[in-house]
Amino acid sequence: NHYVVIMAGGIGSRFWPYSRNGQPKQFLDILGTGRSLLQMTYERFLPITDKANIFVVTNEDYAGLVREQLPELSDNQILEEPLRRNTAPCIAYASYKIAKKDPEAVITVAPSDHVIFNEDKFRKVLETAIAAAGGQDKLITIGLKPNRPETGYGYIQYHESDDLVKRVKTFTEKPERELAKKFLESGDFVWNSGIFVWGVKAIIKGFEECLPEVAETFSDIEKALYTDKEQRAVNDAYSQCGNISIDYGVMEKANNVYVVLGDFGWSDLGSWNSLHELSEKNVDNNVIQGNAIVYETTNTLIKGPKDKLIVVQGLDGYLVTECGNVTLICKKDEEAKFRHYVADVKDQK
Ligand code: GDD
Ligand code: MG
Repeated sequence: NHYVVIMAGGIGSRFWPYSRNGQPKQFLDILGTGRSLLQMTYERFLPITDKANIFVVTNEDYAGLVREQLPELSDNQILEEPLRRNTAPCIAYASYKIAKKDPEAVITVAPSDHVIFNEDKFRKVLETAIAAAGGQDKLITIGLKPNRPETGYGYIQYHESDDLVKRVKTFTEKPERELAKKFLESGDFVWNSGIFVWGVKAIIKGFEECLPEVAETFSDIEKALYTDKEQRAVNDAYSQCGNISIDYGVMEKANNVYVVLGDFGWSDLGSWNSLHELSEKNVDNNVIQGNAIVYETTNTLIKGPKDKLIVVQGLDGYLVTECGNVTLICKKDEEAKFRHYVADVKDQK
């Protein structure tokens, strides 16, 4: 059986002023579709997964938001973490929980805050990976063609073959700028999408070999899973876990990693600028979400509530956004400055 584990416990402040009030990116309607990124992620899997087999792992602070946005999920499908320990403990908890009911499960692990444009293509790629993962000792990741020396991603080098499922030579998480440039220029590497497919046995073995302390912690609480002692046991387990991502903790170390290449239009929406890049633009290269009238304005992103009219004139390359009691107008591509004024504003309150 196929299961999906959606990781929705990350924080993120780059979409300020939208991403405040304890609402990280995955809970926001960044694209202006009326659906949050989490809801879009969930819906993406429905055609290939039984509803009852979709789990969301999140921080206890966001569990209410998950329930609100995905009312179809039962309590057993929302896994609450007491502490932020990054993605390795998150995946371990979900894996042990699924393994207890279905030791033959094949699991897709997905971030909750990415956009995928061609969902049919995406599901085809996943189906290839799911078929290859069943009954096998393979840790499969979906790889994407890189187009810039991004340092926030994992880079994967693989053995060329005609097989759709390629054996991975090296996995390098978040390389330094110089190394990322080399990887890109060599043409030999793909980005790790952060979307993984594996048999539950394979990933548990991965934890046992690469992160034995995490494996031990979660196998110790196996008995408590699906009982009223689960949350207590999980809270104890998290307090014993270090902070480590699946990429550093398992993918870099394991020697049974495979990659299936995907080309389905993908973005992890790292910034306001990336939202402008990937959205449909009008003739003046503007992206407008909400209600705006613009004059002599180009390369600009405007996002505001539907019930507020925004009027601008004479802007080139700006972000104009309004959310709640904050209006933000700034140069769209000077992202490095962004965190400074977000911090200044926070200090004021
Ligand atoms: N439940 C839970 N708990 N979820 C978490 C936690 C946590 O402690 N930390 C992060 N997440 C969720 C985030 O919300 C996101 O959906 C996903 O896990 C990935 O975490 P990020 O923190 O966004 O990872 P990253 O972007 O630095 O790197 C990963 O994604 C890249 C592609 O976007 C890695 O897998 C890279 O190798 C990859 O290239
Ligand atoms: Mg990310």
